[in-house]
Amino acid sequence: MEKGSGMEFLGVKLKNPLVLASGVLGNSFDILRRVHENGCGLVTMKSIGPAPRDGHNNPTVIDLGYGMINAVGLPSPGYDQMEEEWQELATRDFPLNASIYGGSVKEFETVAQFVSDKHPDFIEVNISCPNSEKHGMMFGISESSAHDVIAAVKKVSRVPVIAKLTPQAPDIGRIAKACEDAGADAICAINTLGPGMLIDIETRTPVLAFKKGGLSGPMIKPVALRCVYDIFDAVSIPIIGLGGITTGKDAVEMIMAGASLVGIGSAVRYRGIDVFQKVNEELNQWLTSHDCKIADIVGVAHDIS
Ligand SMILES: Cc1cc2nc3c(=O)[nH]c(=O)nc-3n(C[C@H](O)[C@H](O)[C@H](O)COP(=O)(O)O)c2cc1C
Repeated sequence: MEKGSGMEFLGVKLKNPLVLASGVLGNSFDILRRVHENGCGLVTMKSIGPAPRDGHNNPTVIDLGYGMINAVGLPSPGYDQMEEEWQELATRDFPLNASIYGGSVKEFETVAQFVSDKHPDFIEVNISCPNSEKHGMMFGISESSAHDVIAAVKKVSRVPVIAKLTPQAPDIGRIAKACEDAGADAICAINTLGPGMLIDIETRTPVLAFKKGGLSGPMIKPVALRCVYDIFDAVSIPIIGLGGITTGKDAVEMIMAGASLVGIGSAVRYRGIDVFQKVNEELNQWLTSHDCKIADIVGVAHDIS
């Protein structure tokens, strides 16, 4: 067996530590299956919400080369309008992480209860949704809101619950701890950074139709590493680290910051759908050349000699 392959995460067997980030490839069964076939250990769905949402007008995603800016606006058919997808997903032979969002604690609970009955392997709770009852404030920037959402989801979920955090939190370690105290089984960090903006100097207007958008890809890696490092100091549950991971060496860095699994989103665009295979090979090469396994290096950047 390869050094980076064949592992268990919260009781679920994964072929490797690489995770598809939520949202970058949607929720079509065929695409999610292809991602798994192309070397992804854990496939995350696009966030599913309480009601149908169209998302924002185009343009919604701009590739800057060194990363992307997006304002897709969480388009979703609504949790109870996806019967076809759920039926297909029930036939899957790969581990599935179902991402959910809500505009209130009650909505998170309702969506979680429904989704839990569809038997994903995990529920990932996107608490960085700007469309909230708190007039745009994200659940993920307040310890008490983060706690309340995770506690409500835990109450109804039959599967392990993962809290997905935003780098906008002033102290992400404290948010992670609030989630752990509420019963979260793992933390996923980070969601997109920002919001940011681009201006078209000829039309003198913002480039994105929604004007502002979240940043992802290589440019956010240093922030993602710092967030995972802070979270590792604050909690004892495992971390899925993501944000700008594009190569095997990026994955090694993320694991050394404290991640047990490593997510990949924007790099699908930069290196193709088989980026998972490529990063896994590069990760294994690094582990072999340094004569170690993943477990040996999780959080080692914290060891002060
Ligand atoms: C186009 C796009 C759509 C996204 N949609 C979601 C989403 O629905 N739910 C979510 O939790 N994160 C979403 N994200 C954030 C990613 O899951 C990930 O956290 C972020 O892009 C950082 O990882 P990366 O630099 O590898 O892309 C989206 C990102 C992009 C670029």
